[in-house]
Amino acid sequence: MAEQARAERTLVILKPDAVQRQLVGPIITRFEQKGLRITALKMMQIDRSLAERHYAVHKGKAFYASLLDFITCAPVVVMVLEGHGAISIVRRLMGATNPAQAEPGTIRADFALQTTYNLVHGSDSPDTAAAEIDLFFSPQEIVSHPIPLGPLAFV
Ligand code: RTP
Ligand code: MG
Repeated sequence: MAEQARAERTLVILKPDAVQRQLVGPIITRFEQKGLRITALKMMQIDRSLAERHYAVHKGKAFYASLLDFITCAPVVVMVLEGHGAISIVRRLMGATNPAQAEPGTIRADFALQTTYNLVHGSDSPDTAAAEIDLFFSPQEIVSHPIPLGPLAFV
C-alpha cells in the first residue's frame, strides 16, 4: 500500500490527429500495457478559452496560434492516468516533441511524422499535472481504483 500512496496522476490528451487517424485504441493500449491505470476518461472538443489556459506557457511563441487552432479543431480524448512515476513514464512512452527525433518504440516515433501533429500531450511536472487535471476534470469525474491484490498492486 506504500506504493499506492506514492502513485502519481498525470493528464494525457489524445489530440485531434489521434482521434481522426483512429489511433485512440493503440495509444491507450501502450499506457495500459505499461501498467498505468485510467482513472478518468472522456471525449470532448476543447474550446478556445480552455486551450488558452492549457497552453498559457506557450503564449507569445511562434507556434502558439497554430497550436490553439489545431487543438480546438476537432474532438480529443482526455484522460487521467495513475501509477508510480506516471508523469515521467508517460513522457518517456510519448517520446520527443518532434517525432523525427523520438526514440523508436515511442508513440510519437512509431505513429507520427511532425511536431505539429504529434498525437499526444502529457503533463511535464507534478505542478502542471495537478493544474491540468483540475482544468479538465471535476473531482467527481476521477475514479481512483487501486487494485488490492495481485501484481497490479505494485504498479
Ligand atoms: P505537449 O505539451 O503537447 O505534451 O508536448 P511537449 O511537452 O512535448 O512539447 P511543448 O514544448 O510543451 O509544446 C507543446 C506542443 O506545441 C506544439 N509545438 N509546435 N512548431 C513547433 O516548433 C512546435 N513546438 C511545439 C507541439 O504540438 C507540442 O506538442
Ligand atoms: Mg508540453
